[in-house]
Amino acid sequence: MKKREVWASKIGLVFAAAGNAVGLGNLLRFPSKVALYGGGAFMVPYFVALLFLGIPLMVLEWVIGRYAGARGHGSMTGIMGSLFHHANWARVLGSLGVAIPFLIVCYYIYIESWTLGFAVLSLLGQMPEPIMSSDPKTSMAPYVEFFKSYTAPSTFAIAFLLITLLINWLILQRGVVKGIELTARFGIPALLLMGIFLAVVSLSIRGGKGLEGLLYIYTPDLSKIWDPHVWLEASGQIFFTLSLGMGAIATYASYVKAKEDVLKAGLWTAGINEFVEVVIGASIAIPAAFAMFGALAVPELAKEGTFRLGFMSMPAVLMALPLGWLLSAVWFFLLFIAALTSSLALIQPLVSLFEDEMRWKHSKAVNASMLMVVVGAFMSAFVPGFIDEVDFWAGTLMLVFFALVEIIVFVWIFGVYRFHQELTRDVFFKVPKALVYFFAVVSPIFLLGLIYQWGVLQLPKVVANKDVGITLARLFILSTLVFLAFLAVESRRRYLSGPHI
Ligand code: ALA
Repeated sequence: MKKREVWASKIGLVFAAAGNAVGLGNLLRFPSKVALYGGGAFMVPYFVALLFLGIPLMVLEWVIGRYAGARGHGSMTGIMGSLFHHANWARVLGSLGVAIPFLIVCYYIYIESWTLGFAVLSLLGQMPEPIMSSDPKTSMAPYVEFFKSYTAPSTFAIAFLLITLLINWLILQRGVVKGIELTARFGIPALLLMGIFLAVVSLSIRGGKGLEGLLYIYTPDLSKIWDPHVWLEASGQIFFTLSLGMGAIATYASYVKAKEDVLKAGLWTAGINEFVEVVIGASIAIPAAFAMFGALAVPELAKEGTFRLGFMSMPAVLMALPLGWLLSAVWFFLLFIAALTSSLALIQPLVSLFEDEMRWKHSKAVNASMLMVVVGAFMSAFVPGFIDEVDFWAGTLMLVFFALVEIIVFVWIFGVYRFHQELTRDVFFKVPKALVYFFAVVSPIFLLGLIYQWGVLQLPKVVANKDVGITLARLFILSTLVFLAFLAVESRRRYLSGPHI
């Protein structure tokens, strides 16, 4: 068996894992969802989902990743296989955990490229001039136009998409330690600094009016506590932001040393991610919009789509401040760094599949993975409706479904006893077995409730749409699933023996 890479240092491992989780979800998706679903009303189910789903699943993916990594597997195809003597059913089921991050990265990387494009255009003084008005529609109009023409897609958008793809390719080619870990070691401290700086700026706009935005988020509103939509969205956010149910965390966990404390690593990952989300993420886009446009405007802005707050309202606010071009550049660079460290993590499961299961050389594995991402990213750019459709299936519904699969396979079928043994090996705190039993029962009930609600509330609306773009997106999803299931079976023979080719 070829020796797999391991994270070179503890701090590198923690930063890489934080980079995996912290992304556009924290700084764009979270504020939009909070604004849309009533501020404080969203935060109650959010923290419940963090406690009962987020943290247990995070630890589970770390434990299983370490177990399978020691046996030479890093993609869910190999990870699930390694638990069941590489039975085809386990490998095919596991291939879903490679398909999900791949499908997500197809649109994620395109959005990532917008952030790079907007950052560079801000620095070059190419952002529209601000219009001073208390009416949000008027002051945002130039930025709405700018966003629309940029994402049409413009030549700029395509150029920056190519640059973003190239950056991801270069880093992945350098491997886990010299590529991903090194990027995170610089990226995460830079991200924290830029994030804290922008939070201070946003909260102090207009003599601290931004603080009202923070109060809006943190004033619990129990009146909507029974609204299933809020629960669905809050739990969906927990999955997306922590990169759970995607297989991406387990892949990173597969590169730890044999005796790494995975409980600590998991808690650090969740802790840093939540800090960047509920402290930094909560203190930028919403407070800035509150200060500039007032309380009533914020939920209205969020209704107009996930990108409204981050790509239109934020530049409108920042560009109106002194040195606005620089603040706007910092904001978009912050988003870019956050997105980059996550897109690497979303592609790595595929790289690991080609490398560990197909036994391809690293460079060939990265080239093949990136080639697939290029196809998906260009579909995101040119097929109308592709981003939302893939985000619903892969970025929302499949995550919950796959999380359920993970609990059933890794805890129920693998066995509570064996799982608990793995969980308590070389860690700072011996989690009681009773807690494993508790989560083995409670989390699946929670997940089934979510799947049921999604089925009732969202699915009929989504499947009713049969536009050409939507159909193409579905075909893309389906062919990805079939192709990766095929690779799961095909690679079974190869992993057993044979040199790397
Ligand atoms: N967890 C990543 C994010 O929040 C995917 O963007």
